[in-house]
Amino acid sequence: MESVFSLALLGDSVLNPSSFGGEAIKHLFNWYFLAAALIFLSVTFSVIYFSWKYRAKRYPHAKQLFGNTKTELFFTGTALLLVTVFGIYSFNLMYDIQPEVNDSNNDIQPDVIITGHQWWWEVYYPATQSVTANVLHIPANKKILVELHTADVIHSFWIPQVGPKRDMIPGRTNFLWIGATNAGQYEGLCSEFCGAEHAWMRFPVIVESQTDYENWLKAKAMNASEPTDSLALKGKQLFTQKTCSNCHSIRGVTEKANYGPDLTHLSSRPVILAGMFPYNKSNLRAFLQAPDDLKPGVHMPNFILSQQELNALVAYLDQLK
Ligand code: CUA
Repeated sequence: MESVFSLALLGDSVLNPSSFGGEAIKHLFNWYFLAAALIFLSVTFSVIYFSWKYRAKRYPHAKQLFGNTKTELFFTGTALLLVTVFGIYSFNLMYDIQPEVNDSNNDIQPDVIITGHQWWWEVYYPATQSVTANVLHIPANKKILVELHTADVIHSFWIPQVGPKRDMIPGRTNFLWIGATNAGQYEGLCSEFCGAEHAWMRFPVIVESQTDYENWLKAKAMNASEPTDSLALKGKQLFTQKTCSNCHSIRGVTEKANYGPDLTHLSSRPVILAGMFPYNKSNLRAFLQAPDDLKPGVHMPNFILSQQELNALVAYLDQLK
């Protein structure tokens, strides 16, 4: 099985932004980098040059110095100036790209609410009550307010090309503005170690036109499709009879749990297991057969399903478009 994500390439990094604040952050980074590089080079050069110039062979006895006001003023002043300039630049930029949002701003509604779980992403659009998991759709050229929660430990939500990162902290609601200037597919990830499968807490971010986005939202607000053939019907029965519904919800079938991802439109998602594998029947079947083999540490137990049961469950889940 092949993973859908390549290893981190420069193309996916913050240095190749597609976000509203991205270019500005990149400029700030470049200035920091330039200043740091100049300081590094001048210190390195000075150490080498003066070690050579005042080597013990030529100057066996060091000259004792007791203070030099000019030099001290120069070094203190330069450092103070750099810190002040970069401080003001950074704080201004932070405020520009992340307007303050807190619980008292009741007039601002989040576009999407995302909850981090060990190890997957719950994604909910309150305005349309659309629901999905492990994939995020947003319209291009629009600022999106994301509300962030966690169901268990600290996670950190980050789409390097599309916006800054922000932690998901137990008992706290955090907000984050993101927005992509170009349509396309980007990669999001968890940026805070959160347990065994932290590295496999990834999700594709699909940035599309407003129309495509609205159509997608509408589709994801609908109830699950009803199975038509007998194998899939058997699968639905199994889903409700076994303990699947204690952790997973399927809208219109059983909606009491969100410990595991909502499965209402499972087969329309590009990936399963938080970005680990592309969605297809054989990957789904392999996971149902031995969850822990595919994703060590995963919280779903092995239900020791028979081949017939696996066929039926896969048939049912695969028609959940
Ligand atoms: Cu979630 Cu790391």
